[in-house]
Formats: sequence, structure tokens, C-alpha cells
Amino acid sequence: MKNLFIATAMACVLFTHAEAQPKLTLRVDKAERSVSPTLYGLMTEEINYSYEGGLYSQLLRDIAMQEMTGGQQSRRQQGGGGRPGGPAPKPRYWVLNDSTAGTLRFNTTGGINFTQKRSLSIELTKATSLENPGFWGIAVRPATTYFGDAYLKGQGKVTVGLRSLDGQKVYASQDVNLNSNEWKQYSYTFQTVADVKATKDAVFFIQFHNTGNYSLAYPTLFPKSKKTYTVKSDWYRTDIMDLLREMRPTFLRFPGGNYLEGNTFKERFDWKRTIGPLTMRPGHRSPWGYWSTDGMGLLEFLCWAEECGAEPILGVFAGYVLNSDYVEGDALEPFIKDALDEIEYTIGGPETRWGARRIRDGHPEPFKLTYVEIGNEDFFDRSGSYSHRFMQFYDAIKEKYPQLQIISTQDERTLRGNAENPAAIKVDVIDEHYYRNAEAMYRAAQQYDSYDRNGPKIFCGEWATREGSPTTNMNAALGDAAWMTCMERNSDILVAHCYAPLFVNVNQGGMQWESDLIGYDALTSFGSPSYHAQCMFAQNLGNKVVPMEAEGVPTTPMGREPVPQLYYNTTVDSQTGKLYLKLVNIGASSQTVNVVTTGAKVKGKAVVTTLKSARPEDTNSIDNPNNIVPAKSSLKVSNNFKIALAPYSISVVVM
Ligand code: AHR
Repeated sequence: MKNLFIATAMACVLFTHAEAQPKLTLRVDKAERSVSPTLYGLMTEEINYSYEGGLYSQLLRDIAMQEMTGGQQSRRQQGGGGRPGGPAPKPRYWVLNDSTAGTLRFNTTGGINFTQKRSLSIELTKATSLENPGFWGIAVRPATTYFGDAYLKGQGKVTVGLRSLDGQKVYASQDVNLNSNEWKQYSYTFQTVADVKATKDAVFFIQFHNTGNYSLAYPTLFPKSKKTYTVKSDWYRTDIMDLLREMRPTFLRFPGGNYLEGNTFKERFDWKRTIGPLTMRPGHRSPWGYWSTDGMGLLEFLCWAEECGAEPILGVFAGYVLNSDYVEGDALEPFIKDALDEIEYTIGGPETRWGARRIRDGHPEPFKLTYVEIGNEDFFDRSGSYSHRFMQFYDAIKEKYPQLQIISTQDERTLRGNAENPAAIKVDVIDEHYYRNAEAMYRAAQQYDSYDRNGPKIFCGEWATREGSPTTNMNAALGDAAWMTCMERNSDILVAHCYAPLFVNVNQGGMQWESDLIGYDALTSFGSPSYHAQCMFAQNLGNKVVPMEAEGVPTTPMGREPVPQLYYNTTVDSQTGKLYLKLVNIGASSQTVNVVTTGAKVKGKAVVTTLKSARPEDTNSIDNPNNIVPAKSSLKVSNNFKIALAPYSISVVVM
């Protein structure tokens, strides 16, 4: 079995273009390798405004009053005042409609509780409104209920709502009577009418009808979700969640990525500070340079997985941060306890402290959990401490939860190389990350064929073909598809994989990392060609890998030496007998392929889904979201048939 795979993948005869007569033989009776049930999944972290201004549906910007402009502040001083002598810093995202009507000031003391210490003072000599632009706009949609609350001090009537940028049109609003000079929480709900045209050109406003002194802290605004999947459905932007469901993810790797680690210990993802009421979450700065309110906290990640029918792959903080600081030995013990508590929160019953807390937070059922990952990319930790840190976590987790599979972020050789007792190193799964251009993906498309079948399993926890920006183009999709044929073919050892980064807010200033899978602004979202390629692959997957032999595969010129023009894989569903043949033609010429199947009867009409474009640099965008999308056709198939593959195309044949 092993020999057949290696022989077909590594030693297929390559032809130059002129001689090309490719033939692929599918050996269905030899389909023995199992496809991992968790092969396709998602990876996420707070990068590119993934949650704030992205999936997290809270619409207002800087609700925690952290962001200022002017005043030459250092990072530490942000929100705390400008340098002595510098111009006074101003709130960046909170403005008075009439700037002559009064003054705005951030307070860093006297907040609503010990966690939210900051607030905004509003001193008005004229009646006016306070406005917030959201994250590059606020989505106004027809027949939509918006709800939220705010802490306010002051007296008199205010009107809270959404209106057009020019102030001419109020889309929805509600009056609220303020009646306390101490902090008081006020709730609001308003609804847009059915015939309003959807727009992102809107601001949130609080119209103060009287002059006087007011204070504001932690205002929120959410659109009510029209469908309920979990207790947290209102938390997620519906259009983006719908795109994710199409990907049929079996797992969600969170909370990072670098976002797990943070630049400093204080800025790590400290899960205990991300649960419970929003105002009890202090928030923290993402290593990608902006404030996270932690509105997307541990429970929201877990429910996100559940909303998509996926299970979590839980990344636990492992005592290493991005500025290279780390702790080990006894100093690591509190972090190990945190990880054990986090697992208990995820899967514990009512009799456990953290399981009971999850139930109080609104999720009675434990979540499914198979994999826990220790840290993120600890191959960057040059101290060699990861071997010790990893084993401390491994032993403690396995002792309490022997059923869990533990993922290491360093390869086995490095782990053993830095260990005092290499023989004691145990590792279930290794997380590998690959960011490559398309050429490198083609050259790597046989990488896993030669991996040791008896070694640890592999999790490709971050990968992408980095072509195109902000989202990837067709060239990237071709590289991705070639790489996915490799991962599928080897999914007996490659148990899971996920693309990164998943999201980008396409507005100027929204992106920190180029080549992302899904793009959006405040109103609409779209999938890149890479996104569509993944949907096609994940939606069409059997449970066994079918060995394939290739003859006459042509090459295409690239870089220092040509690469094969075709990439392919087949899986079969042993229950239904359906075959899923994936074919990738990366060349500028069309290619007719002869497909021969042995060990099973093939007949009738196959459904062919094709993604293609005229030029590899073609792409989708917020203004042209459906430029490259899959199209379906049918094809008469038999045990020996031909299929014509368009230039720059990805095809999935279901027969
Ligand atoms: O995906 C972007 C970053 O790439 C991740 O945060 C990190 O793990 C990797 O280096």
C-alpha cells in the first residue's frame, strides 16, 4: 500500500508540454488509507480586525475608551494623557456633531467598576449629539432590531440611534430619560423599517437634548440575529458566519496564532479575563496593534465552533510571549493550572468548578474536545525551554484527561534535542506552519508522501499560498488546491489543517497581514478564490483515499525548473460508493486528462464543479465579490473517460 502511494506520487512520468497525454488511474479496490474525520477546519485570532470590526457583531468602535488621537502619546500613555506640553489628546472615535457645543475628555479613574476604569466626560454648553462611526461604518439593514446598553451619568432626555453620515436621515432611534448623577445602566432597542436600503454609511448617535455635564462608559450596539443556533448567536455577524458554514469546518483552532501569546505576559490571551459579563472583561492589546475588548472570549469561541458544527482545537498559553520572555519549572505551574481550568471549563460537568461556571455562563452541555495545543510557534523560542514547558503541560493534562491528544508546536527532533531526557519526550501531534508562494506550494505538493507513517500525527495548523492582497487571487487558489491534494492524500497521518489568516477587514488600516481568505467591510463580505477552492474540497470528501497512478503528466515552466502542470487526489465514500476526484491544472493551456478507474464500476453522469479564471492574478473583491466562483456542469463518465481541464482551473468530479 505504502509503496503504491509513494511510487505514484513521486515517480510519475513527467512529459514536456508538447508530448503531454496525461492518464490517471484510480485504484478504488486499494483504497485503504482513512481520511481523517477532522481534516478541514478553521484557524482564527484577532488580526486584520477579525473580531472587532469583523465577526464579533458589536458595532461601536472603542467602547472601552482606549483610543486617542494627538498628544504625542507613547503606547503606555494612550488614554492616560499626552506628553507634558503636547497638544491635549482627543478621543479618536467619539466626536461631538457640533464641536463648538462643548468638550470631550477621557477619564481613567472613577469608572463603572474595577475592570472598566475609563469613561468619557461630555460637557455641553449647547445641545448636540455624540457620534461614533463604528468600524469604517455601521451596517444598517432592513427590518433589523438593534439592541445595546450604556452606562451614563446625567439628567434629561437623550435619543439614541443610527443615522446617515450627513445627519439627514434617522434610520432608527429610541428616547431614553437619564435620571442619575451616578453611573446607571440604560438599555435601548430600535428597529429599522423593511424598506430601508442597506448601507454602511451610518453613525451611532446619542442626541443630548439639554446642556449640562454627562459621562458615558461601555456603550454597545448589536444587531439581533435572525436565526438562533446557540446561546451566542447574536454575537456573530450573520453573513460571515454563513460563509464559514459553507466551508464545512470540523474544528476551530483558537485563540491563535500570535494572539494567544501576546507581546508581553500582560497581553497574552488570558482566558479567565474573557468570560462573564462584557464589562467584567478588561480587554487587552492584540499583538497586531489594536485593542481587543475580549467580547470574543472563551465561551464565544467555543459557541462559534458549535455554530459551524465544529469542535474546538484549544490552544493553551504555554509560558512564552513574543518579546521572547518565558517561564519554566515552578514558575510555569500557574499557567498549567490555567490550562487545566480552561479544559475543565470546556468539558467539565456541573460538579467541577469551571464546568459549573460554564453552565452559569449559559452553556449547560460540555463541548466536544479532542485536541489541545501547547503554545504557538514555539520554534521561535531559541532558549530551548519549550521541551521542558511542553512536557510539563503534557504530563499534567494527560494525567487528568488521558483521552486528549496533545499538539506540540515544535517538531520531534527539536523537542528531543533540547530535552534533558530525550527518551521521555512524548508527543501525539506536531503543528506545522507553511506560508509559501504558489511555486513553493507546487514544489511541496508531495511533501507528506514520504513522512514516517509511525511517527506523530501532523496538524498543519497554519498554511496559505500568499499571492494577492488583501485577499488571495486565483494564483493562490491553484497553489492551495495543489497543497490540499497532498494533505488529503496523506490524511492518514495529517489529521487536520487550517488556512491562516481567515479574515481581513478590507478598509484602509484594517489589514496587518496580506493574503487572507475572507474579506469584508462593515456591510458585505466575500470569499477569495482560495476560499472557494477550500469549500469545493471540504464539501466533496470521502472517508478513504484512493491510490492513483499518473502517466504523461506535462510540466509547466516555472522559476529555476519546471513543475508538474497537474495535481490530483481522489477519495471514496465507502458507504455510498461516491468518488471525489480533484484535479488542478495550473498551466496556461487547457489539458485533457484520461481517467481510468479499476476496482469499481463507474457510469452515468458526474457532477463537475469548476473554479477557473482567465489570468492567475484575477481575484474577488468587495466591489466584485463573485468574479471567480465555482460553476457546476455534468459529464458522462465510465471506467475510462476523458475530461478537459480549462487553463488555471480547479475541478472536483463527483461520480
Ligand atoms: O497567521 C499570522 C501569524 O503567522 C500567526 O499569528 C502566527 O502564528 C504566524 O506566524
